[in-house]
Amino acid sequence: MTDPSSLPPAADWGQDILERLERLARHSEGGPGVTRRLATPEHRAVHGLLADWMAEAGMTVRQDAAANTCGRYEASEPGAPALMMGSHQDTVRQGGRYDGILGVVVPLACIKVLHDAGERLPFALEVVAFSDEEGLRFGTGLFGSAAVVGRPRIEDLERRDDAGVSLAQALRDFGLDPEALPSAARRPEELHGFVEVHIEQGPVLEAEGLPVGIVTDITHGANMTVTLTGVAGHAGTVPMTRRQDALAGAAEGIQAVEARCRASDRLVGTVGQIAVEPGASNVIPGACRFSVDLRSPDPALLKDAAADLEARLAEIAEARALGLDVERRYKLPGCPCSPWLMDQMEAAVVAEGIAPRRLFSGAGHDAMALREITDIAMLFVRCAGGISHNPAEAITAGDAGTAARVLLRFLRAFDPAGRAAAG
Ligand code: GLV
Ligand code: MN
Ligand code: MN
Repeated sequence: MTDPSSLPPAADWGQDILERLERLARHSEGGPGVTRRLATPEHRAVHGLLADWMAEAGMTVRQDAAANTCGRYEASEPGAPALMMGSHQDTVRQGGRYDGILGVVVPLACIKVLHDAGERLPFALEVVAFSDEEGLRFGTGLFGSAAVVGRPRIEDLERRDDAGVSLAQALRDFGLDPEALPSAARRPEELHGFVEVHIEQGPVLEAEGLPVGIVTDITHGANMTVTLTGVAGHAGTVPMTRRQDALAGAAEGIQAVEARCRASDRLVGTVGQIAVEPGASNVIPGACRFSVDLRSPDPALLKDAAADLEARLAEIAEARALGLDVERRYKLPGCPCSPWLMDQMEAAVVAEGIAPRRLFSGAGHDAMALREITDIAMLFVRCAGGISHNPAEAITAGDAGTAARVLLRFLRAFDPAGRAAAG
């Protein structure tokens, strides 16, 4: 065994991490940026690469029934409970090369160092590359991690992608059995906790000149699909006073989302998808469907905002004689990270000579699901300009290497007894 305090230099180690991320990013449905959806050839290719790297790091590898890639590095005493790490391997449409997958590659880099040095820890280490966090293909956010915490999204299995393929069929085509989805569940007693490394996706660390930060809480979120139904008609003949234009109603609804969220600095709202039918330049829109994504650190504020918005949409629909349907797609309950894990992460940050900065996450993460069965911590890594969900997403090799050094320090010093002590 080598000196257990030895750590690879940040710049070289980070370069290797970025090169691996670059190789993963090539598995995309097309540019700009990276588009990788659940149960696609790109997903299969990335699973293959990750499985190879897990094996190279001395881990046993399997794919669970939810298409998550799962690796385990055994403890000094085989069968011991594990500290789980990981994040997602899917992306948004035209996303970056770091969101999610960084939190898979950094832990693997740490475990490879342990394996190469013949070093075992008194607890097992597991890494999960969750199959689908973004929900791009089927609108199923946190699909992979929900299954791991024993809440398989059975109700979503009949949802269809843009090509009309159901989620159940996509899993079958991927070589998996949708009926077996519940078998992906893990038991709380198998885990000491869950740690997710993730790019910050915001500007705080860059503004403060810090490479990494420790997450305190993850935001609450609510997502709905709004459908307004009017009457399609001739663009040239129907007088303006007699129109039931679904898209004009949606435009007013979208402005209502913005206005309601601008009324508080603790609320954000986004309409990122819109579909118009029949969709011709000379036809008055007969139907319009759009998404609404609301987030807030305050669950009461989020609930009020969603209710206000639904009331406003009803007013708009009534005034324009439109039909209205609001489908409450999902709620993501936010959560705090676990203080005992944050403290241990902070010790590793300080040992690396970095000022410990604690910060809030306005983005959702797989850790939110894991929180249902175990304690969680997150390490944020500075990203250029705070830009994410964008092909321009960027981190430096130095910061990637620093994150790996912090994580490896954390793992070597990790004391599961901290949990019992925290009560
Ligand atoms: C995940 O990327 C989210 O939408 O927060
Ligand atoms: Mn994301
Ligand atoms: Mn993410």
